[in-house]
Amino acid sequence: MPIPSATSEYSPVSMLQSRFLQACNREPVDVTPVWFMRQAGRYMAEYRAIRQKYSLLEICYHPELAAEVTLQPVRALGVDAAILFADILLPAIPLGVGLEFAKGEGPILHNPVRTMEHVKELRPVDPEKDLGYVMAAIRILRGELKDIPLIGFCGAPFTVASYLLEGGSSREFLRTKTMMYSAPEVWHALMEKLSSVLADYLVAQIHAGAQAVQVFDSWVGALSPQDYETFVLPYSQKILQSAKAEGVPVIHFGTNTTTLLPLMKRAGGDVIGLDWRIPLDDGWSLLGEDVAVQGNLDPALLFAPLPEIKSRVHDILRRANGRAGHIFNLGHGILQHTPVDNVRAVVDMVHEFKVDR
Ligand code: CP3
Repeated sequence: MPIPSATSEYSPVSMLQSRFLQACNREPVDVTPVWFMRQAGRYMAEYRAIRQKYSLLEICYHPELAAEVTLQPVRALGVDAAILFADILLPAIPLGVGLEFAKGEGPILHNPVRTMEHVKELRPVDPEKDLGYVMAAIRILRGELKDIPLIGFCGAPFTVASYLLEGGSSREFLRTKTMMYSAPEVWHALMEKLSSVLADYLVAQIHAGAQAVQVFDSWVGALSPQDYETFVLPYSQKILQSAKAEGVPVIHFGTNTTTLLPLMKRAGGDVIGLDWRIPLDDGWSLLGEDVAVQGNLDPALLFAPLPEIKSRVHDILRRANGRAGHIFNLGHGILQHTPVDNVRAVVDMVHEFKVDR
């Protein structure tokens, strides 16, 4: 497959009639748009077939493979948006902290950040050069996707920092919080560095052709509102504003964020992600109607019988009540053993739903 050059012409975002982009902008839509976080992955046989031959990082490093994996759920499910296949931890590689995805263990960072010296040793990152394979995948995808918009993404600085500090996944975020409380100058230096690297990375994705972007602050719900405001908000804001200035819709996502929603809105985003811990209409009220929302089915519900799934999907759509600015999604990513047929059924349930007025 030829890789389009950086200068190839794409139709402007505004010319693409997409219900996903319309909903991001709180414009009226024919039916509610739907896509899923982690819509590509191990629950799909087509993905497992590629994973037998290539590691997760190898898929990311080969733009034609990353593009193929991105397209798998678009073909199989009939979703209204594609999300680029990549990982929020890819920028850790050029930063020099040594990323590995160990079998059954999740990500491992071999040189975790512990001191100001470590922060200073983090290498400068040029996204077009050091993460050029991501931009190449985006360029291939824009040639393939035609009328389905492509979502680019990055991790938010808090969530990425937590992996850099903990050296991998964490439950208590103890090293992360200990740094905030005991060495705030090191924390702020790390967040400065990360927010500028991540903002440049996200802007590069938009320049390569991403038509919307999502900032994943998956673990930020571990923080109190006070700590969010002091230690996180200014840095997330920097990334969200940089993306916004490029003129594409920006989705700001987190989980366990019920008490953080007004602050997350202040940090930025045209669309705010809601998880299943709060009813969609209550979450939307906390945020205010001048922002779009995305969510919020519990990913575990995809393991339930179809009538139960349907009643929960309809409950969410009734709570949205046809208001402009709802994008249907899960409250978090698709889980590993999810039945593909149930995912496809949810897409149809969302598209077939009519609000009763
Ligand atoms: O959504 C998509 O379809 C696009 C692809 C995508 C991946 N990771 C591929 C992946 C996206 C958007 C991510 C984001 C990501 N990565 C997040 C934020 C989203 C979230 O779920 O909260 C986080 C926290 C990570 C870090 C990460 N990557 C972890 C913790 C793991 C291991 C956990 C697991 O499920 O094994 C990964 C690995 C990873 N990234 C997989 C995929 C499909 C696992 C599958 C594999 O090994 O092939």
